[in-house]
Amino acid sequence: MTFSNNLCLAFVTVLAVGILISSQQVSSQGEGGAHAGSKGFSLPYMTSNVEEVSGKSFDYIVVGGGASGCPLVATLSQKYSLLLIERGGSPFNNPMISEATNFGLPLIQTDEFLSIAQRFVSEEGVMNLRGRVLGGSTAINNGFYSRASEDYVKKLGWDKKLVREAYEWIESKVVFQPNDLTEWQSIVKDSLVHAGGLPYKGFSLEHMPGTKVGGSIFDRNGKRHTAADLLAYGNLDRITVLLNATVKNVIFHNNGSGSKPEASGVKFIKSNGNGDQVYEVYLSRRKDTESRGDVILSAGALGSPQILLLSGIGPYEQLKHFNISPIVDATEVGKGIKDNPCFRLSLDSPKTPRSDITQVVGVTKDSQIIIQSAIGYITNNETTLKVAAKLAYPVSQGKLELKNIDPRQNPLVRFNYLFEEKDLDQCVRMGHLLEKIAQSNLIISYLGSEQNENAELSTEEELRELCKTDVQTYCHYHGGSSIGSVVDKDYKVYGVNRLRVLDGSTLPDAPGTNPMATLLMLGRYQGIKILDERDHNSFTCFPEHGGQYTTYSVPEM
Ligand SMILES: Cc1cc2nc3c(=O)[nH]c(=O)nc-3n(C[C@H](O)[C@H](O)[C@H](O)COP(=O)(O)OP(=O)(O)OC[C@H]3O[C@@H](n4cnc5c(N)ncnc54)[C@H](O)[C@@H]3O)c2cc1C
Ligand SMILES: *[C@@H]1O[C@H](CO)[C@@H](O)[C@H](O)[C@H]1NC(C)=O
Ligand SMILES: *[C@@H]1O[C@H](CO)[C@@H](O)[C@H](O)[C@H]1NC(C)=O
Ligand SMILES: *[C@@H]1O[C@H](CO)[C@@H](O)[C@H](O)[C@H]1NC(C)=O
Repeated sequence: MTFSNNLCLAFVTVLAVGILISSQQVSSQGEGGAHAGSKGFSLPYMTSNVEEVSGKSFDYIVVGGGASGCPLVATLSQKYSLLLIERGGSPFNNPMISEATNFGLPLIQTDEFLSIAQRFVSEEGVMNLRGRVLGGSTAINNGFYSRASEDYVKKLGWDKKLVREAYEWIESKVVFQPNDLTEWQSIVKDSLVHAGGLPYKGFSLEHMPGTKVGGSIFDRNGKRHTAADLLAYGNLDRITVLLNATVKNVIFHNNGSGSKPEASGVKFIKSNGNGDQVYEVYLSRRKDTESRGDVILSAGALGSPQILLLSGIGPYEQLKHFNISPIVDATEVGKGIKDNPCFRLSLDSPKTPRSDITQVVGVTKDSQIIIQSAIGYITNNETTLKVAAKLAYPVSQGKLELKNIDPRQNPLVRFNYLFEEKDLDQCVRMGHLLEKIAQSNLIISYLGSEQNENAELSTEEELRELCKTDVQTYCHYHGGSSIGSVVDKDYKVYGVNRLRVLDGSTLPDAPGTNPMATLLMLGRYQGIKILDERDHNSFTCFPEHGGQYTTYSVPEM
């Protein structure tokens, strides 16, 4: 058994999965209007041709088609026209994304500008990953789905009932209950219960202490359902998806005058071009301002703060350094970005098992530590078994800054892992617990006789050192344009009009459990809120309609 030194090589699991809906065959990227898949699964119009979109206007422009962006677009399309701009390509008909058996391969097949997973290395040297494809990180992740606790929902000030409805909407479309556990997940489950002392709670989508089987975005046929599947549930006539286009910055009106600058569109480049040619697209300008939509950044915890900075919203000194004309001196942009430190044990196995996604989780009684396991690829034909513990609520905070003004490159990120003593103490606890579990009889006997059953457990001092030298990531980084510091409770960016951010960058604290469920939910949730808000506005603007709700704009493109 060794403390592994490699990255966010994730948790792969081959699932035997139960179902809430049957798996659909999704049609390929089309070039001409909504089209039906082989089993009636229709997608909105998708194009990589920037000329088709350049110069046009839409009610809403959503930047980034990830966990939050896709359900947001599907929901807003009930009433408004939308452009979704995604820097990556299509996930449909790509077996590297859809097949559970390929899980983890994209994570080791990365390149600078085009691969579906983009690597980044934090300033402290920890390797990490971002999705770069429609579906975002839901197209490359372990697929483990678990709702946030009620306490978390309360803390964020979200409407409990609407949160539940939004979770259920997501779950009815892309979330599945595993039928059977894989052999490895079953062993992990029993080890968590017996060696880890975390009582078994069965299957649940709720976050709870103990050991449970969670939901998955892989169905029982081992097919992944990404956030992009949710686009099929929108009004397809009102959605345009522009792929392989990277947004550079937001365009503002009134930027020099007395009133607040107002977002009026975005500039973008081809993701695979040389970046010289810049294109623009605009928000529809309806006569009364109440009827106008927003630019919404859903580009993830790295992407959204980066676009804000490139748009002139950020600390003045930094903007000046890169010659970016300042729109708002927003000192908080990029501050408070966090990642959950992870401590991972690689288990030496005489077998080379297939990759294995995550079905099971163990959560300590105080909810501070999350333990999961997966079998990931280390090369194209070799796997490794890993058991990993994550600190659920890190207090150490980091910082994101621009490295350069190329929107296709990663910004600089420092997470300050374990900087706060409190986090380091928890990490030592994680180490003790992990060792106990990894040395349980069940795991030892699965791995075979080469394991030393009497291996010494590490001392507290050793673990403190190992925590510092071997800290890794679960890829659950969040924050950077948080609610209360960069955006208000409606996710509107302070200091400007018609610009919102909605994704993992807005979460000031981790949901504790794995974040995907909550970020998918948030896209749906806030989409409904925006629709409601605008219905309400139309009512108050036209009281003469005698209580009848008047909705604006039957959108046309
Ligand atoms: C390897 C890995 C494994 C994980 N495993 C799990 C798991 O099992 N369970 C779980 O709950 N969570 C997991 N996560 C975390 C989860 O997937 C993310 O927290 C979640 O997807 C983040 O959602 P988001 O909407 O903030 O960003 P994303 O889903 O990352 O979406 C952001 C999108 O914006 C696009 N974009 C960025 N910049 C631009 C730009 N300038 N122009 C245009 N488009 C842009 C990106 O290409 C991307 O599609 C994992 C993450 C990774 C990387
Ligand atoms: C879009 O980008 C992906 C990923 O680089 C690539 O495979 C695909 O061919 C591109 N599509 C177009 C039309 O350029
Ligand atoms: C500021 O406004 C001017 C005039 O309306 C416009 O030309 C310029 O592009 C705007 N700048 C930004 C950063 O949006
Ligand atoms: C694994 O792949 C590499 C090249 O990718 C090859 O050289 C090696 O022989 C392969 N090993 C096995 C066991 O297939």
